[in-house]
Amino acid sequence: MTSYLSIQDAIKKGEGTVSIRGWVHRERGSNKLKFIVLRDSSNIIQCVFKQDNFAKKWDEIDHLQVEASLEISGTIKKDPRAPTGYEIEVKKYDLVGKSDNYPITKDQSAEFLADNRHLWLRSRRMTAILKVRSTVFGAIHEYFRNEGFYEYHSPIFQSVQAEGGSTLFEVPYFGNKGVFLGQTWQLYAEPAIFSLEKIYTISPSFRAERSKTSRHLTEYWHAEMELAWAEFNDIIDYGEKLLKHVITRVLETNKAELELLERDYKKLEPAVKKPFVRMSYDEALKILKTKCKMDVEWGKDLRTIEEEKLTKLYDVPVIVTHYPKKVKAFYMTEDPKNSEVVQGCDFLAPEGYGEIIGGSHREHDLEKIKARLREQGENPEDYEFYLDTRRYGSVPHGGFGLGVERIISWICGLDTIKDAIPFPRTMERYKP
Ligand code: 4AD
Ligand code: MG
Repeated sequence: MTSYLSIQDAIKKGEGTVSIRGWVHRERGSNKLKFIVLRDSSNIIQCVFKQDNFAKKWDEIDHLQVEASLEISGTIKKDPRAPTGYEIEVKKYDLVGKSDNYPITKDQSAEFLADNRHLWLRSRRMTAILKVRSTVFGAIHEYFRNEGFYEYHSPIFQSVQAEGGSTLFEVPYFGNKGVFLGQTWQLYAEPAIFSLEKIYTISPSFRAERSKTSRHLTEYWHAEMELAWAEFNDIIDYGEKLLKHVITRVLETNKAELELLERDYKKLEPAVKKPFVRMSYDEALKILKTKCKMDVEWGKDLRTIEEEKLTKLYDVPVIVTHYPKKVKAFYMTEDPKNSEVVQGCDFLAPEGYGEIIGGSHREHDLEKIKARLREQGENPEDYEFYLDTRRYGSVPHGGFGLGVERIISWICGLDTIKDAIPFPRTMERYKP
């Protein structure tokens, strides 16, 4: 049995005989020589076939095309002209799967690449992003588990809304009405804090977003936490520590990927080293007025453009708190000092990447919750199971949700959130 090294490990070995396997990334040849750049999940390497060594199979070698899969044995040596500084002179090879006329060639349109997403995943760019994505998911699990949180799961089919009716996906459900894809785990997570106290999840969330922005998906991965006996500031502190942990892990693990993506990762370092900026909505309006010459009418939600201007003033995320009650969800606690604002927070990423975390303390007053549900056109009777959380041993609690693709976009410096997920779903795209 041949034992295969990853291309990265073969390069590390740097001399002698090695066996590797992977896919043809680039190919060029002449009568006497064929150069193949082979790719696997770890790296790429130049391999050279000499016609003298393969007289009988030269026709097959000569016709090797991009994305054919090969197993190769040969001698590796340093070669400064080769793309990763090493070259393998091939002694033996097997063509495992041929590939004729691979559709993805240079300079394809974004639309073409989206139609061929299943193939585009093999690109070095997508491979690098998917590696960062894997680190991010691992770091989120690691953070919460180290902090003593239990992993807990809410249903995806839900009978209530939490984040506004306009972005609900209603689904056919055996002829029943009022069944939706979850926008958040939250209303089914709050009941579980009475059992587990500290819980988290990473799960898909769904939003029927009609906006065609670089930040909105209809299906995204949502890392959420809920905590019993919590004050508002505890929630904010957890959010900041989680983000610091995730970025730290990516900087430890994925510098090579960030370089391949041409991401200046120095821009991420302040978020690890410095405290995040915290300000109330009122303070944000003042700063927008004085430093950005933007007037926002009190009571209006911050728009993308305002968030962008505000965050460009800092090199760390900005946490805006105490938004007007009327622009936030029904479950947020009224501020004890001013009932017009709520104990909710948005974490806004630097460099214009927008809201990455939304969280809050949860209103405990049953009648206030019911009144706000009614204001939003909801029937409190549909929320009876949720209201029980306030009837039997209610405790101060809260939580937040992190949009995983939003943070991947920021970390990788992506132009669009669509590249932060393998098969993006948007208003216009649900295939392949
Ligand atoms: O601010 P949101 O709507 O908050 C909630 O869903 C709360 N129930 C969370 C909680 O307290 N457990 O969403 C949370 C985060 C946003 O900050 C954003 O990062 C992300 O989810 N998000 C989206 N990401 C991609 N595409 C979309 N359409 C998104 N909508 C929200
Ligand atoms: Mg939000």
